[in-house]
Amino acid sequence: MTRHFLRDDDITPAEQRQILDLAVQLKRDRFQAKPLAGPQTVAVIFDKSSTRTRVSFAVGIADLGGVPLIISTASSQLGGKETASDTARVLERQVAAIVWRTYAQAGLEEMAAGTRVPVVNALSDDFHPCQLLADFLTIREHRGELAGLTVAFLGDGRSNMAQSYLLAGATAGMHVRVASPAQYSPDASVVADAERRALETGGSVAVLADPAEAAAGADVIVTDTWVSMGKEDEKAARVKTFGDYQVDAAMMARAKVDALFLHCLPADRGYEVTAEVIDGPQSVIWDEAENRLHAQKALLVWLFEQNEQTAPARKAGF
Ligand code: CP
Ligand code: NVA
Repeated sequence: MTRHFLRDDDITPAEQRQILDLAVQLKRDRFQAKPLAGPQTVAVIFDKSSTRTRVSFAVGIADLGGVPLIISTASSQLGGKETASDTARVLERQVAAIVWRTYAQAGLEEMAAGTRVPVVNALSDDFHPCQLLADFLTIREHRGELAGLTVAFLGDGRSNMAQSYLLAGATAGMHVRVASPAQYSPDASVVADAERRALETGGSVAVLADPAEAAAGADVIVTDTWVSMGKEDEKAARVKTFGDYQVDAAMMARAKVDALFLHCLPADRGYEVTAEVIDGPQSVIWDEAENRLHAQKALLVWLFEQNEQTAPARKAGF
């Protein structure tokens, strides 16, 4: 069975640790691993805009000795013109992995079911698991162990970032609090999956309405745009609803005195976060953005190791 990375709980707690340990090594010695020497190609497909994901996958695949093939959906046969599973069967004969930023999680599942090469979720409406690997590498660099830390996500609880924090945080043994207006609460099944993981790891999960309660005593404060890609038509209503969830200096002051501030970027400055916080001494957003590179390289190396027996394009012939 091919291992994919479509959501944060596709990996076990031990595997998450292994990938983060490898990311630390690859950050120290950037050109040490060359699993894509050949060079082999990785397809990186975008249905939505991107700066960080595009750059970090392109640079990372090159660092690993390979060639990134960046495909924009609009100029391909994807996007309703050809099914994800037919696309997957074409790609797997030629590429070593498929990285895809898309809308529905179901599309990624269809792509993964149709191929023997690893499929990586580069952001869907539901999850952003690559970002969480980078966030956790960053938190480890600044705080050491992840297990036992309390992280508070304030804002859109139904967003990919909030839901990934629930799953990845529970996997890491963290205490994850998500504070959002009731109509933007995380999906109940994601919360249930995170709760199950937390039972295994000693972490915990709390879905709250009050941002101040979530932030109280936290080790890490996280937010993200109130208007995720695909929700632009709802901007006016969202800005009104999320006003109380803004991370400003007063909100940061509720957390631990040395609490970290994270944001996956891009940020709508003045909305979900004020300039004094995002540019302030507790913010680690630039480390976080850089760590996309190291974390995703570790993920790819790990996936290639897991899938050595099943990936057709990594062998000499078919
Ligand atoms: N954080 C993140 O995924 O950024 P991009 O949308 O620029 O890729
Ligand atoms: N939640 C945001 C993340 C962007 C990287 C979005 O989906 O637009």
